[in-house]
Order: sequence, then structure tokens, then C-alpha cells
Amino acid sequence: MSEVIIAAPKPAAVTLEAGKEYWWCACGRSKTQPFCDGSHEGTGIEPKSFTVETTRKYAVCQCKHTQNGPFCDGAHAKL
Ligand code: FES
Repeated sequence: MSEVIIAAPKPAAVTLEAGKEYWWCACGRSKTQPFCDGSHEGTGIEPKSFTVETTRKYAVCQCKHTQNGPFCDGAHAKL
């Protein structure tokens, strides 16, 4: 399996819609951060599908080191 890439050393503030399915880029290679664009192919790293219950702005991890993907857990501060 390939290593994850730090797409950005901070979260993206993104408005997510309740009930809509999103695919979070877990490998860091997507050009449409923080979402998957298929660039993980061949890395052995899979994107993570998720939904939210409330439409609002969320801090979505771009460093790919969160233990609470797709959401930022502060791990970027320790890289
Ligand atoms: S951006 Fe990844 S933990 Fe904050």
C-alpha cells in the first residue's frame, strides 16, 4: 500500500448538505480536495463515503492523518 500524501496541512471548511453522499479523499492525491477524484487507483487506499445529518460548514481533513475521517481531529497540528 502506498503512503498517504498531505494534500494540505489544514482542514478545508466545506458546507455539506444533509443526506447527500460524499466521498472523502483518504490518499491525498485528489485534485478536488477534500473529495475523491479517482486518483487513489493503484495506491491500495480507498476513499471513504459519508453523509452528514445537518447542513452546515464542516472542517474536513486534508492532511489525511485524522483518526476521525473525514473530519479534522487536530492531527495536522502535530505533523
Ligand atoms: S487537516 Fe487532517 S487532522 Fe486536521
